[in-house]
Amino acid sequence: MSSNEIRDPLLEHSYDGIQEYDNPLPGWWVMVFWASIIFCVPYTIYVHFMDGNTVLDAYEADMAENTLNLNLTADAATIIALRDDVEKLEIAEGIFASKCSACHKPDGSGQQGLGPNLTDKHWKNVKSLTDLYDVISDGVTGTAMTPQTTLSRDEKVLMAAYVAHLATEFKEGLPPEGEEVATWPSEK
Ligand code: HEC
Repeated sequence: MSSNEIRDPLLEHSYDGIQEYDNPLPGWWVMVFWASIIFCVPYTIYVHFMDGNTVLDAYEADMAENTLNLNLTADAATIIALRDDVEKLEIAEGIFASKCSACHKPDGSGQQGLGPNLTDKHWKNVKSLTDLYDVISDGVTGTAMTPQTTLSRDEKVLMAAYVAHLATEFKEGLPPEGEEVATWPSEK
């Protein structure tokens, strides 16, 4: 083919004297275009009107996966069992980081003028494992420790277990406050 040979025919129209060649889109491109139009019809019917997963379904499935639905009771046996449940403690760690660490420090060692050290054997309001639940659920009147109303019951039981878990390993932080609880944290 010589360089000045015209392959595509000129189209008849002319705009301000400018003409264009009839230069069609590549066949593969047109195929993809039509294929996507044909594909979208059954796809739309399946996703929106049959059992296909919409973005909303996927969102709800993810939320359900991350929402505790355990129907936990706030008794000592449940708290002890959760205290040693590595998988659940991971969830608890996230909740502690977002709802508690501002006052109690991420490692639970306490923050001057905010929340006490939760890793020592001294407690101001706690004598038993279930007291942990009560403090989290009801707060301590007249202090910055307010009832944790944004947590579900399951989450509050889990956080009681997490605090019990924190208390198994002392961390240097705020000095002890309150009474020493001798049976802590091996209490059953
Ligand atoms: C706004 C600050 C703040 C936040 C947020 C907070 N706490 Fe507290 N927390 C306190 C204070 C202050 C006390 C001490 C109350 C007192 O003086 O008796 C306390 C006490 C406690 C106690 C009892 C400690 C004891 O010695 O009796 C526990 C358990 C506890 N918090 C757990 C939690 C958990 C779990 C969360 C998150 C779900 C949380 N707190 C969020 C400020 C906070």
